[in-house]
Amino acid sequence: PTRNDYAGRRLLITAGPTHEDLDPVRYLGNKSTGRMGIALAEAAAARGASVDLVLGPTELSTTDPGINLVPVRSAREMHAVCVALWPKADAAILSAAVADYRPASMAQQKIKKEDKPLRIDLVRNPDIAAELGEDKKPHQRLVGFALETENALENARGKLERKNLDLIVLNSPNDEGAAFGHTTNKIQLLDRDTVTAFELKPKRAVADDILDALAGRF
Ligand code: C5P
Repeated sequence: PTRNDYAGRRLLITAGPTHEDLDPVRYLGNKSTGRMGIALAEAAAARGASVDLVLGPTELSTTDPGINLVPVRSAREMHAVCVALWPKADAAILSAAVADYRPASMAQQKIKKEDKPLRIDLVRNPDIAAELGEDKKPHQRLVGFALETENALENARGKLERKNLDLIVLNSPNDEGAAFGHTTNKIQLLDRDTVTAFELKPKRAVADDILDALAGRF
């Protein structure tokens, strides 16, 4: 059944990894494919939303006409786009696996190997979720993701509060068939007081569960 419950709403969605350049041919990255965030964007568009999808470098993409696709590469690029789009959004869903750190400087030439260990200094990237949370207006809703390997519920709730999120989607890399690289996911949804656990299902169905929970909070 197609609902039109997001008609007239504008959603900002981040997805995929970020690449943090080390030199002209190397970067630091992570295993995110963007599949969950793309599924969220397509599900939201199908429900009538106008969607800005800020997508890090990945093989996957979307040609959905209801989606304004904004490709980015680094955390700082993703940050700049999100800060610009957030004032126009009714909600943001931040599913991107944003690099916490980037190399302190990018080498202008390819780094040469030598017969000794190489040290790379890293500096912190901006936290997009925390910044949007700080600038959140009373009518806006903010949804984050958490991927935890230990003390999952406690850490996820801590993030929800610290970043001023309304909802956080917890997925565990320990669950069979869930999170990075899979076409299915198994999530728990947390707000300040409640936890709801969902079955393992295709990411598109997970996307609709998340959008159902968000729709009730405007
Ligand atoms: O603190 P942690 O990285 O675990 O928080 C995860 C949540 O914060 C996700 O929603 C992720 O997209 C978002 N995030 C972000 N910018 C960062 C780091 C994380 O928006 N630099």
